[in-house]
Amino acid sequence: MFASKGIRVFGVEIEDKKLARIRLGKAPFYEPKLECMLNDVINEKVLTVSNDIATSVKASTISFICVGTPALINGTAYTADVVQAAKEIGRALSTVNNYHIVVVKSSVLPGTTESVVGKNIAMYSKGTVKDFGLACNPEFLKQGSAIDDCFSPHILVIGSNGGKTEEMLISFYKSLFVQFQPELIQTNISTAEFIKFANNSFVANKISFINTISNICSRMPNVDVEIVAKAIGLDPRIGKLFLRAGPGYGGPCFPKDVAQFINFSYGIGYDPVHLRSTRRVNEHQLTVLFDMIVDVLKGTVKGKKIAILGLSFKNNTDDVRESVSLKIIGKLKRKDAIIKVHDPLPTAIENTRRIFGKRIEYYTDHISCIMNVDCCIIMTEWSGYKDLDAITFKKCMKKANVVDARRILDHTAMDGINYLGTGLGR
Ligand code: UGA
Repeated sequence: MFASKGIRVFGVEIEDKKLARIRLGKAPFYEPKLECMLNDVINEKVLTVSNDIATSVKASTISFICVGTPALINGTAYTADVVQAAKEIGRALSTVNNYHIVVVKSSVLPGTTESVVGKNIAMYSKGTVKDFGLACNPEFLKQGSAIDDCFSPHILVIGSNGGKTEEMLISFYKSLFVQFQPELIQTNISTAEFIKFANNSFVANKISFINTISNICSRMPNVDVEIVAKAIGLDPRIGKLFLRAGPGYGGPCFPKDVAQFINFSYGIGYDPVHLRSTRRVNEHQLTVLFDMIVDVLKGTVKGKKIAILGLSFKNNTDDVRESVSLKIIGKLKRKDAIIKVHDPLPTAIENTRRIFGKRIEYYTDHISCIMNVDCCIIMTEWSGYKDLDAITFKKCMKKANVVDARRILDHTAMDGINYLGTGLGR
């Protein structure tokens, strides 16, 4: 986004394969609009990419740290990549005389920017960096709409110790957003770090809330969670976004951010009951989904042929990290079901193949995938799946048992189908 706004950007990528792809203007993962934009800025040489941190830092005024911060199994944050980036930046800055700002964009827990990044920069520049600015500027983009979210952010959070760093960052962003200015929150570094986790946890909580409502609805004959969500979403105090009931949230962000936030909270002496409930409800959605499958299959999944439509953690991405699809495939395989899978993105299929190998069957078109199966489970909201109708199910499937985990089909048009939708009682 910076490069396409005309800012000269020196990108750093240390993985050889990714670097080679990016240099050719090819995105290393699927994201709508990304490849086209990348191609343009690479061709125009506004963006150059290398694995040389030192040269890139020396050529710049601001360095953004954007590395991943996954959660370890116990919920603690893995910050080794952040530490490594800080060390390298510190080494590079030891030969720089101009004022340089280091901005942490990665999601890091409160305290990390100053006590990990700042300290390592100071240590590895061997005291030669007299003055550098440090800031935390969390990102709120969503995969699948990342480019639009970047160009029209609803908020800009700048956490710093004020002064020159804050002034320079605000004027940098003001120059980017000429037509509209996102709401600006200027604060200290720890608050900026905290905001990111509070924000993601609240949205995750909203999903767990609607999934709780959905589970209650599904036990009632005449109450549909879709209508309930639509109605309560019209209350401005609630808001309509992120109120879609489903198989639970997945992906590389919500699960790990909620886990890290819980761990962080315990670490400073508070049991975050509410956050624990959010996570617990989310984990339980897998059991809810499994029970729906057992229900449509009248008691057992053993030996049944099951089609899974959608592999990534949501539509418009090929990312399968913490994808509920992969979790349900694992659970069904352990119960001896025969699994056929489809995703519209070949890269999502490849990512899944790396995990399940030959233990499941892969299909590049969804109609072949549902052919002759005992049950079809719709796991993501890809538009192609929305066209599936009762005639197609009856024509293709051995038994027309359908679980619509995302409620994308018109349940009133499912005559002759043993249809079960999330949050829809029967
Ligand atoms: C999330 C946040 O939405 C972004 O604001 C944040 O910047 C990002 O994490 C991050 O921390 O980097 P992302 O994980 O890319 O973005 O995708 P979401 O659209 O938030 O979806 C997350 C999960 O929630 C998906 O599994 C999705 O299917 C699920 N979801 C979403 C629901 O089950 N119901 C909904 O109504 C919305």
